[in-house]
Amino acid sequence: MATGEAPCNNKRSYQVVIAATKDMGLGMNMKLPWDLPREYQFFQDVTTKTSDPKKRNATIMGRKSWEATPLDIRPLPGRLNVVLTKSSCLSIATNENVLVCNSMESALELLATEPYSSSIEKVFFIGGGELLRHYMNAPNCDAIHLTEIDISVPCDAFAPRVDTCLYRPWYSSFPVVENGIRYSFNTYVRSKNPIAVSDFICCETEDYSFLPKMVFERHEEFGYLNLVQNIISNGDMNDNNTLSKFGCQMRFNLRKTFPLLTTKKVFWLGVVEETLQLISGSTNPKEEGTNHIWNSNEANEYLDSLRVNATEEDGDHPLLFGLHWRDTDARLVLSQFSKLSDFINKIKNNPHNRGIMLPCQTFAQFYVANGELSCQIYQSSTEASLVIPFCIAAYSLLTCIIAHVCDLVAGDFIHVIGDAHVNTAHIKAIQKQLQISPKPFPILKMNPEKTNIDHFQASDLELLEI
Ligand SMILES: NC(=O)c1ccc[n+]([C@@H]2O[C@H](COP(=O)([O-])OP(=O)(O)OC[C@H]3O[C@@H](n4cnc5c(N)ncnc54)[C@H](OP(=O)(O)O)[C@@H]3O)[C@@H](O)[C@H]2O)c1
Repeated sequence: MATGEAPCNNKRSYQVVIAATKDMGLGMNMKLPWDLPREYQFFQDVTTKTSDPKKRNATIMGRKSWEATPLDIRPLPGRLNVVLTKSSCLSIATNENVLVCNSMESALELLATEPYSSSIEKVFFIGGGELLRHYMNAPNCDAIHLTEIDISVPCDAFAPRVDTCLYRPWYSSFPVVENGIRYSFNTYVRSKNPIAVSDFICCETEDYSFLPKMVFERHEEFGYLNLVQNIISNGDMNDNNTLSKFGCQMRFNLRKTFPLLTTKKVFWLGVVEETLQLISGSTNPKEEGTNHIWNSNEANEYLDSLRVNATEEDGDHPLLFGLHWRDTDARLVLSQFSKLSDFINKIKNNPHNRGIMLPCQTFAQFYVANGELSCQIYQSSTEASLVIPFCIAAYSLLTCIIAHVCDLVAGDFIHVIGDAHVNTAHIKAIQKQLQISPKPFPILKMNPEKTNIDHFQASDLELLEI
């Protein structure tokens, strides 16, 4: 039974839906201090839509939030409105869409009994500040949908900050600008099973399908999963054992999380060592000695799990060959990277230069705006099952490192691929992978003391999960 969808004990769990300023301000003089129609539409959609058309959702709110709701939309249509007040004599016009309860606990217990237990699909707690102080980070709260509004304005109602020891980002939208205000939609999910930090990120059985469908499907890993699904379902059979699609694009937001795929194993230590080696400008992994990880048991285990022959030819690893970092043309990349200090100077001193590029078989272009560094790469031809996940992680890491040393925040990573293909021998494994639901992406923590790109070591780059 999915959490939040039906009572599994004597109390319903719930999801918080709010919008707040940088200082977690919610409102001023019983009004919202912004006018953001798209934000309001998101609130409407998340709290109203159900997967079962016979059911509706409930919205729980404090008495003052009820009173702050404009009369023309009060009670909130299409939802059961549950108003919390300690005052027994308060007269709140009740009808079949409104319930009044004297505590959060009694509301959650009531919603766990008939007729609500079977007619209410999801429960959303929508504020305000007085109640959020107690119930935003409480154990029954499964998720927090927080619109982060990038303004500082006077407010008299505030929410607490999201407790990042308890919640992990599920999804963070690319910034939206409306009426001159920049904001983003964010969903945080309560971590169900703490996972140890390790070199491998493995598939777990955590289930986040309790999230509203429109939010669940926004996890960026679906961009990759849809790509491989499209290749195996609709790809062109260009030879006897390869299916391919031409002209593919994926986009990853690096601001809060790091896109190390969660539906398959990705060898994080390998990603780190390869990226650092690329930065060092080395062309021979054996001589440099940083590539020893590919000879380790962990690497062999990883490669076996991917059903790739872990052999090396002329110092080229199969994955590296796939990445084109070390084939003949790719030596160009390395010669570009050996001039990395010039490149970083350009980003620092002439950030709006339109030519911050690394021309090579993997063509990488960097872009600076709003204090953020974004990167777009173009790969003419790439294997999708094994190489793309590694590539997403490696170029995202490169972007994060360069942003860090340039005192910028990492923004977007855009992956454009000409010919994205899979070997038919991998189809079964891909189909299995497509049955797995993504988990929250990990968070990258970089050693703040490292400000010179040449001084980074693997231990300065850590993936955090809670
Ligand atoms: N930005 C957003 O997403 C958002 C969302 C919601 C609200 N808001 C804004 O926030 C402001 C309202 O928030 P607020 O913090 O002032 O008030 P609030 O939390 O909405 O309501 C406070 C009231 O809730 C009742 N209450 C508090 N604790 C309770 C408990 N443990 N059990 C039962 N009832 C309890 C009390 O009602 P009684 O006094 O009747 O006992 C209390 O006065 C408005 O400006 C509104 O526009 C913004």
